Amino acid sequence: MPEPVSPLDQAGLERAAAEAIAAAATAASLDELATQRRYWTGDQSVIVQANRAIKSLPGADRAQAGKNLGAVKARIWAAFDARRETLDALASEQRLAGEAVDVTLPAVRRPPGARHPLELMQERIADVFTAMGWTIAEGPELEAEWFNFDALNFGPDHPARQMQDTFFTNPPDRGLVLRTHTSPVQARVLLASGVPCYVAVPGKTFRTDELDATHTPVFHQVEGLAVDRHLTMAHLRGTLDHLAQAMFGGEALTRLRPSFFPFTEPSAEMDLLCFACQGKNPSCRTCGGSGWIEWGGCGMVDPHVLIACGVDPVEYQGFAFGMGIERTLMFRNGVADMHDMVEGDARFSLNWGVEI
Ligand code: PHE
Repeated sequence: MPEPVSPLDQAGLERAAAEAIAAAATAASLDELATQRRYWTGDQSVIVQANRAIKSLPGADRAQAGKNLGAVKARIWAAFDARRETLDALASEQRLAGEAVDVTLPAVRRPPGARHPLELMQERIADVFTAMGWTIAEGPELEAEWFNFDALNFGPDHPARQMQDTFFTNPPDRGLVLRTHTSPVQARVLLASGVPCYVAVPGKTFRTDELDATHTPVFHQVEGLAVDRHLTMAHLRGTLDHLAQAMFGGEALTRLRPSFFPFTEPSAEMDLLCFACQGKNPSCRTCGGSGWIEWGGCGMVDPHVLIACGVDPVEYQGFAFGMGIERTLMFRNGVADMHDMVEGDARFSLNWGVEI
């Protein structure tokens, strides 16, 4: 404890003040300053003790003692306040310096991603149709059985309705299936927008296939539907050739083979001239030597479908086609195994999903 000083000892008070002010001025930290402040201004400090001693002085001396002490006290308190401000400012300066960001440092780069090649392929096909003035439509993946089958002229006992092809949903009497093709959107578009109609429909489709190198239970198709006056199979043919050339290059050719679909009459399978060998290599690995690659189904819209959608089949004719997007990607980009398309490996997307 400091030696007590009489409140009348002006020189002693000045010495104490000088010491206190020096202690405040040299305190190196807020902690040290607090310790010094307690020592020099606390209850037991020289000044506060001297203050307490005033009341036991003779009355005549009290006023002078109070004056002396008041002046000294004010200087000491001010010295501690001033130092506190300085140390506070210093501390916040240091904190800011610690938080500084060096904007010239190189950034941490995340590896770039890529869109899925199947998505890009659907957009690429949609672009071909948009450029011809067609519109693009979508339909629900969980589809009413009526749109997926009935509206498309599938009889109630048609084998395509059976369990080996179609994912039915519970409860069965709700009549909802995972659509087995994009063709139900034909009926949806005709019912919603009427004729004339030029529409392309890319989308997801589902069948109960096992996943292997050439099959997947979830796949994609692009549907095309044109309904107008005076449409013939020649228009279908021209449209398919144009799409083939846009997708595979200037030489691409298509071939139609007679086939059957309940919703087209006549119906055809469409093949693509093998772009790898142009049909000239009997041991070609892309087409298996046949020269042609199966691409999808097509035909003239069956009058029953037009009638189901409220379109007069005498006045209007239409053509429709549907092809697999996975197959298109396999041929176009040389993807040998369907697994690559569904496994979600970024290396696959980076390879085929980035276009300039
Ligand atoms: N929807 C048929 C299929 O999935 C393809 C097709 C579309 C056939 C349009 C004719 C017309 O196999």
